[in-house]
Amino acid sequence: MKGLILSGGKGTRLYPLTYTRAKQLIPVANKPVLVRVIEAIREAGVIDIGIVVGDTASEIKDALSKRTDLGVNITYIPQDRPAGLAHAVKISQEFIGDDRFVMFLGDNVIEGGITELIQDFANNDWNSQIVLKEVPLAEAKSYGVAVLNPDGSVNRLIEKPPEPPSNLALVGIYMFDHHVFEAVNSIQPSKRNELEITDAIQWLIDHQYRVYPHVHQGWWIDTGKHADMLEANDYVLDELQPFIAPDAIIEDSQLDRRVSVEAGAKIINSVIRGPSIIGENTVIKDSYIGPYTSIYHDVEVEGCEIEHSIVLENSKVKHLDVRLQNSLIGRDAQVSSDSIGKPRALKLYLGDHSKVWIPK
Ligand code: TTP
Repeated sequence: MKGLILSGGKGTRLYPLTYTRAKQLIPVANKPVLVRVIEAIREAGVIDIGIVVGDTASEIKDALSKRTDLGVNITYIPQDRPAGLAHAVKISQEFIGDDRFVMFLGDNVIEGGITELIQDFANNDWNSQIVLKEVPLAEAKSYGVAVLNPDGSVNRLIEKPPEPPSNLALVGIYMFDHHVFEAVNSIQPSKRNELEITDAIQWLIDHQYRVYPHVHQGWWIDTGKHADMLEANDYVLDELQPFIAPDAIIEDSQLDRRVSVEAGAKIINSVIRGPSIIGENTVIKDSYIGPYTSIYHDVEVEGCEIEHSIVLENSKVKHLDVRLQNSLIGRDAQVSSDSIGKPRALKLYLGDHSKVWIPK
């Protein structure tokens, strides 16, 4: 069994965060989503992993090469443009060979890992297994949905149906044997000029290959949009085993049980409510950090209240007289209300596609 992670794409829905960074490297509870995906595959006993990469290839390679704890063999598979999930499969044929494989979208986070799924697939002679999740019927039109046969196998897949015939949405995890290459080499690009994985799976079904579903019971998040990132952060923080690094400095502060503090962090005269995580070498001073907040490495927070938010590395958030909430702050950003002087006005240097909400 091999693993295939899709980590190309453009990430347009996460602009401006993804103008300058691969979306799969944005951390959720202080660990990049891509690293979480690699760990889930490794925990299922699969260590030969291909990663499809696009424009952000060098950043992804650089980030993963720094991690000595992954314990997997990685082969990078360059994709010259995001031509679709089935295109990513097509260009991975040489890497996969005749092996069965699990394909995982590099920006998805799922509860409870994929060990059970992989065992299911390994113990059956199915040609493909797809993962489905029940969603409210009204929301099903935003997903690829599956209609099942009475014997439980997949009858058909429909991409974003205006009137969904089922509430079983496709989750970004798929298992295939080598017959999928016949499918991806036979299908034509869709209206949006991509080779669609739903068309490849439908091709398998239409050619009498056996496609079975696994209906996932826990949570699953596709971190494509800002609100999804925050939601994934909530879920993962809820599950995090709290820890305090031995060299963290905590002075005159109050920390909940469910707070994690990473190496070299300093918390001074502050209140931290869990679940939350404070990153390496970050300094929190005279502040309140509320539940469901992840502050990444080398951040400075002073005289602020932050709740239900993600702050990325090297940013500075200082002396705000209003609470920061439901926010995603990128790398090297500065948010402060000091030294502006008169008149009392907002001063903003914002990147393209930034969004700011100002309370009335
Ligand atoms: P998507 O979220 O469908 O696409 P995207 O990353 O381009 O995002 P946006 O719609 O915001 O522009 O992709 C799902 C995952 O698959 C993501 O990790 C990127 C990856 N991917 C590839 O590796 N190759 C591709 O051709 C496509 C379409 C996606």
